[in-house]
Amino acid sequence: MRTETEHTIYLKDYAPSPYKITAVDLDFRILADTTRVRALLTIEPQAETAPGTPLVLDGDGLKLSSVAIDGAPLALVAYAADDNGLTIIEPPLRRFVLETEVTLKPEGNLKLMGLYRSSGTWCTQCEPEGFRRITYYLDRPDNLATFKVTMTAPRDLAPVLLANGNLVGQGDAGDGMHFAVWEDPFPKPAYLFALVAGDLGSITDSFTTASGRKVDLAIYCEHGKEDQCLWAMDSLKRSMAWDEKRFGREYDLDIFNIVAVSDFNFGAMENKGLNIFNDKLVFAQPATATDADYENIERVIAHEYFHNWTGNRITCRDWFQLCLKEGLTVYRDQEFTSDERSRAVKRISDVVTLRSAQFPEDGGPLAHPARPDQYREINNFYTPTVYEKGAEIVRMLATLLGEAGFRKGMDLYFERHDGEATTIEAFLAVFAEANGVDLEQFKTWYLQAGTPRLTMSDSYDAVSQTYTLKLSQETLPTPGQLTKQALVLPIKFGLIGPNGSPMGWSAVSGGEVRDDMIVLREASAEITFKGIANKPVPSLLREFSAPVNLDTNLTQDDRLFLAQHDSDPYGRWQALQDVATALAVDAATGKPWSDAAVAGLSRAMADTLANKDLDDAFKALALGLPGEAVIGRTIGKDIDPARIHEVRNALTKAVFGPLGRDLLIAYTNLSSTLPYQPDAASTGRRALRNRVLALLVGSEAAGASALAASQYAEATNMTDRYAALTILGSAWTAEAPTVLADFRTRFTANPLVFDKWLMVSALAQDEGVLERIKAILAAPDFPKSNPNRLRSLLGSFVMSNPAQFTRPDGTAFRFITDVVADIDTRNPQVAARVLTGFRIWQMLEPQRREAARSALTALQAGGKLSRNTADILARMLA
Ligand code: ARG
Ligand code: ZN
Repeated sequence: MRTETEHTIYLKDYAPSPYKITAVDLDFRILADTTRVRALLTIEPQAETAPGTPLVLDGDGLKLSSVAIDGAPLALVAYAADDNGLTIIEPPLRRFVLETEVTLKPEGNLKLMGLYRSSGTWCTQCEPEGFRRITYYLDRPDNLATFKVTMTAPRDLAPVLLANGNLVGQGDAGDGMHFAVWEDPFPKPAYLFALVAGDLGSITDSFTTASGRKVDLAIYCEHGKEDQCLWAMDSLKRSMAWDEKRFGREYDLDIFNIVAVSDFNFGAMENKGLNIFNDKLVFAQPATATDADYENIERVIAHEYFHNWTGNRITCRDWFQLCLKEGLTVYRDQEFTSDERSRAVKRISDVVTLRSAQFPEDGGPLAHPARPDQYREINNFYTPTVYEKGAEIVRMLATLLGEAGFRKGMDLYFERHDGEATTIEAFLAVFAEANGVDLEQFKTWYLQAGTPRLTMSDSYDAVSQTYTLKLSQETLPTPGQLTKQALVLPIKFGLIGPNGSPMGWSAVSGGEVRDDMIVLREASAEITFKGIANKPVPSLLREFSAPVNLDTNLTQDDRLFLAQHDSDPYGRWQALQDVATALAVDAATGKPWSDAAVAGLSRAMADTLANKDLDDAFKALALGLPGEAVIGRTIGKDIDPARIHEVRNALTKAVFGPLGRDLLIAYTNLSSTLPYQPDAASTGRRALRNRVLALLVGSEAAGASALAASQYAEATNMTDRYAALTILGSAWTAEAPTVLADFRTRFTANPLVFDKWLMVSALAQDEGVLERIKAILAAPDFPKSNPNRLRSLLGSFVMSNPAQFTRPDGTAFRFITDVVADIDTRNPQVAARVLTGFRIWQMLEPQRREAARSALTALQAGGKLSRNTADILARMLA
């Protein structure tokens, strides 16, 4: 049963506010230990607002010192202030200016929402409900207002003063203080407000838009780290050019600023004209950042920049619509990466992410629709479902409508809704209108939780030369949604003949088939192809054209055939994954695998490695066995992660052991003495070489761990060094303690490299890992308030070390719930996020399941938790 129903907010209850704030004039006086905020809000009643309707403003943790309307102080009986806000009991029924003054203590703000300090820098995070921690306001995304911001601060502590929009004034304020005035001409919701004051260095550049406007670009950071911002700047300029070319979207202000801060609850934030970033998504240099870091920085810089159109100029009416901006913007950043790098490799990596982060969510106690219809704590809905499944839904729309049709819809969206706060319905309506199609059924993707299962079985009749595909879909119940509807599934496909080439057909019946795509709208369909001379092997769900689990009647030989002949790189990769998953599932559930099947996979892997037509980045992915979580979810229930871990290790040995010589030769051939470059080709080469190294160590080839240790010692870039460290550290070989200790001292001063050390420390697969994690966390100088440090150590452990996290004695479960309770007293968002690691608990075998349940119930019984953590816990135990 759900408790705390009084806090639940429902989509069906959405109503516009009776008042609107149209203009905001903020005055910040920033002193070393307090900040005073004076707000002048221009407020109007809506046309239909009745006289005497109170004005209810949100507030959180504010200390109010004065309230006035149009300059006249309000009598005490005219307003009421409490922990949740400020109510003006009987406001004038005309336009008026409300003036309030509050005092903040940014230094003590450990939640990192609102105005806080990060390494001395004052900065803000307002999405979704942080602005109410700065001043009383209508803190909801459908209130759009223009903002003017005056900041006064000590010149020595904060020589740099930034806010949204354009700088319109600055000067001396006496007594060692100075001021700056910023104005943002674009009306915006308060969650896009930002301010930064600090002693920061910067790099600058410029970008000239397609229509010839020059935009000044700057990235601000801690002094001395400026040269680590060059890659981010390069990524920003490429993003700006791409959005013009691909979507016809130009930047709209004269200034675009990015600030890197070291204490940040998530990746980055798209505040209008002033993006604020977690510094791990800005800083890159070859000695300290990996290829994955470079790609991530490029992606997130693009993502936040793209929000300027999808999020800022067109924003969300309410937070239920979050995936209107997030799913769409993730889709856009995925497309950017695909265009800048390899489309096939990007698609496969995104599928891996979706399966490892979103599918478990969608199949567990935290499942929710991409557009939820209720929440208790909106911060808990910045999820893989809203972001990644949200992007898959947009991708399916693009697949169904085709590139031109999709672009027509996007153009209409920008034209019609610019300057608005809108909904998923409005988004779908423009695509329906621009293409003359009905998207009613398609909308179910936004409303229905759970990963559909698509089942296929085929048959061939040689006499009539017909080939039949039987398809059916099913979505299992999820919390609060017991019955499910059929979804529109775009299934890209091809039929492959015995010689490996594509097969056509003379006629097709029984379903909607367009060239290379079946559109399944019903619960099931039987599609018959005529004029088929030989039994084909079907390649289904090419490009992973719908986010579903696919079950087929294909044999291991069919899959190996696809791995060799599918023209779709995703299809080849998936075929190898399927072969390996089936073997691992068999072994983990007590069916010994056939030596012939293992040998077949081994040969297919050898062929992949040797294939001259495949690029390195693809091979690096193809040579990876499915992760333990994927194997676990395929088994589906009563899983024993330790057993899965053993089986996967054994499979690595069985498949790659025989390839030792090939792997060693490949490893040597892939070496390079060229200076580090972050481009796709060099990245791919390093990825393949490091994959090969992992396979050599994983299959316990003679001398392999010594080879990894020497790669670690001799590496000239972080990609190669970190890969060797991870390989040795997670397998916890004899070399592991030494290389980890070396890594720790080699980069003592760099917190982002410390994070890498923490991650590898948490991933170790030996029994000692839990005690070591406890010791790391207990060290007196461990920065217990920094989200990056906590997530690197604890997030990695719960999400990526299933065998140790789910120890049957429950010691790791209890350790995590204790730590969550402690973190929760400082930073509820980080605590709640770590706790989501338990979302797989109901899938575990009985002993582990019981141990998890007892840790979770003890946490619940333990007393006062934040709304964030209490909400996750209640859903987990419901
Ligand atoms: N809008 C930001 C982004 O997608 C993320 C904000 C996350 N907020 C949160 N409360 N988790 O880039
Ligand atoms: Zn976003």
